[in-house]
Amino acid sequence: MIGIFDSGVGGLTVVKEIKKLLPDVPIVYFGDTARLPYGNKSRETIQKYSAEIVDFLKSKGCRTIVVACNTASALAADYIREKYPDLKIYDVVSTGAEAVAETTKSKKVGVIGTTATINSSVYKKKITELDSNIEVFTKACPLFVHLVEENWTRRPETRKIARTYLRDLKLKKIDTLLLGCTHYPLLEKIISGVMGRRTKVIASGEKLAEELKKNLDKRPARIATRSVAGGDEYFVSDLTEHFERLAEKILGKKAKIEKIML
Ligand code: DGL
Repeated sequence: MIGIFDSGVGGLTVVKEIKKLLPDVPIVYFGDTARLPYGNKSRETIQKYSAEIVDFLKSKGCRTIVVACNTASALAADYIREKYPDLKIYDVVSTGAEAVAETTKSKKVGVIGTTATINSSVYKKKITELDSNIEVFTKACPLFVHLVEENWTRRPETRKIARTYLRDLKLKKIDTLLLGCTHYPLLEKIISGVMGRRTKVIASGEKLAEELKKNLDKRPARIATRSVAGGDEYFVSDLTEHFERLAEKILGKKAKIEKIML
């Protein structure tokens, strides 16, 4: 059983990538919708929330945890790794940084994310640890989360905001742009359009799914036991119709979602 969590609905973009590669491995998803957004909260609060969620996922039998939220990955992944040495923890920041380092040729890259993620500088640190020749330019794009939540993923207003946010990154002539936030893959068309053909836009969840598959393939017996264990389960700390609609849009199918107080 793989436990996957996010501050809300956006982590389902990561679930989708994981399901593409590992369709038979059951997952337990938790979206902390009652306490989102995480993107403007302090490290201490995000660590506390993340630990509470990991406790819940552990109680559901998950031994592998995916931190699908970039903000929680940036500010709490190392904390939960230390607190739960018995669990295998994957986070989108580590794998996203690897994807960037593997993709760039010009060694000029961009990362966009929430204010908390960008202010933590963790992407910059991880990417330059992998290759010190890479120049990393970053930009917080806090409005993108709200635009996705409002389903404004094709509006001209959104394109205009994207142009404003991405202007400086465009001038830096980056060849790779990492979408360092769970919500941003839903704006990929607009973001790619603004950045132009020379910039490859990548999402942090894709590489994570590949890594997860690689590691699980090494232990087929564990996949087999998981596969017979049951279907996927989706939990949130607050359930609204709005969430259900967005979840369906991201997953491309209706999922049974339960509300649970931690
Ligand atoms: N899930 C968050 C992230 O990937 C975005 C939404 C939020 O701020 O909670 O950074």
